Amino acid sequence: MASTHGAAAQVLVASNRGPVSYTVGEDGSLHARRGGGGLVSGLSAIGPDAGALWVCSALSDGDREAVRRGVGEDGVRMLPVPADVHADAYNGIANSVLWFVHHLLYQTPLEPVFDAEFRRQWASYETYNRAFAEALAQEAAQGAAVLVQDYHLCLVPGMLRELRPDLRIGHFSHTPWAPVDYFGLLPGDIRVQLLRGMLGADRLGFLTRRWADAFAACCEEFTGGTGGTEIGVHGLGADADFLRARSRERDVEERLAALREEIGTAPEGGARKVIVRVDRTELSKNIVRGLLAYRQLLDDRPEWHERVVHVAFAYPSRQDLAVYRDYTAEVQRLAGEINERYGSAGWTPVVLHVKDDFARSLAAYRLADVALVNPIRDGMNLVAKEVPVVSDRGCALVLSREAGAYGELREDAITVNPYDVLETARALHEALTMAPEERAQRTKRLAAAATALPPARWFLDQLEALRGTRAS
Ligand code: G6P
Repeated sequence: MASTHGAAAQVLVASNRGPVSYTVGEDGSLHARRGGGGLVSGLSAIGPDAGALWVCSALSDGDREAVRRGVGEDGVRMLPVPADVHADAYNGIANSVLWFVHHLLYQTPLEPVFDAEFRRQWASYETYNRAFAEALAQEAAQGAAVLVQDYHLCLVPGMLRELRPDLRIGHFSHTPWAPVDYFGLLPGDIRVQLLRGMLGADRLGFLTRRWADAFAACCEEFTGGTGGTEIGVHGLGADADFLRARSRERDVEERLAALREEIGTAPEGGARKVIVRVDRTELSKNIVRGLLAYRQLLDDRPEWHERVVHVAFAYPSRQDLAVYRDYTAEVQRLAGEINERYGSAGWTPVVLHVKDDFARSLAAYRLADVALVNPIRDGMNLVAKEVPVVSDRGCALVLSREAGAYGELREDAITVNPYDVLETARALHEALTMAPEERAQRTKRLAAAATALPPARWFLDQLEALRGTRAS
């Protein structure tokens, strides 16, 4: 087949959300915005001449307009999947079924319901995955490495394998993987299709051993094993150099000053203690129980009144889904209730912001005395890894045992069962009262563990391992 594939791409990344998005201005002009994240910095590590191509989906109207006008960035190909197909695949299947299964989010007396509507959406998920497989098959050079990302694209490896047996195909899951009994909620044919789709890859990557083992257990149960597919664990770490430099820039300093204003000072005139959380408003992030735990702390320990502030950033996510909108509203309601009940003229117990602002997030990291990271379940959770790197005075980390980061950070974190609000309240108190010397020591070790595998290395390791899966 060698001569039939004249395409240039040697390394291909495929993901639903790409590294750039477009908006249409009032005058009809297109504006590009570049995103960040592990994959972006990972890919930049192989350099501009490596023949890399990122295949992603056109998500917004601006993205679709860019495709229509033939506008694009070098190294990025956006697929103009029809909006209704994309909505079924992304909102319907990826976010409402697969995300729920892997994060154990269903309220099972009423959901899930696998009915005719589900089957209709599933057909869109197949169509959407096929669009990726076909684009990748078209763009990949002979023997190229293809790195497929996440639960949106589980069927791509199998589909691509059929179209292009010459390729090295990898798939990486940035989420947890469901335990066998929970994955078993899915209809029998669907779970086999998902697993076989992924097993079409030469190599599958997970963030922790726990998620890799859960996947292998599902294969044991439902497909009779993982076949010849290799499974690897790559625990993405924080990007220390980038974070340290970025968090000292001017916009961060400005936000730091504004946040200090909002936090205010304790009655004795000293600084108030700051408990920080920064999340996208995901159902899995457990923001509501975090607020309940903080309320419990204020109930149990009046000595903290006027002396602590909970800075909570809950940035909008997946607002097409009613359950996300309701959850966002509950976060706001509860924060308001706590402020109503305990606040005073000079003290706002919860400073909640919902408008996404990366510079302000870094400012909050710098101020943190305590970081609260209490997800119900999380693939890794980079906030847990970033705060210890950035915090000015060192911070105590309250960390859920269900976060992927738990494996690497447990020894120096105060760990909690995310469902146990009383335990979390006690952990917050312990974190707030940790002696400065101990806090400094722990922060140093947390930062070292958190940065052990920076994004560039994380990406290159996967690429090397994938290239080593078969003899050339
Ligand atoms: C989180 C998960 C990723 C996932 C992403 C999708 O960050 O860790 O695994 O790809 O969400 O988010 P989106 O906003 O595109 O739905």
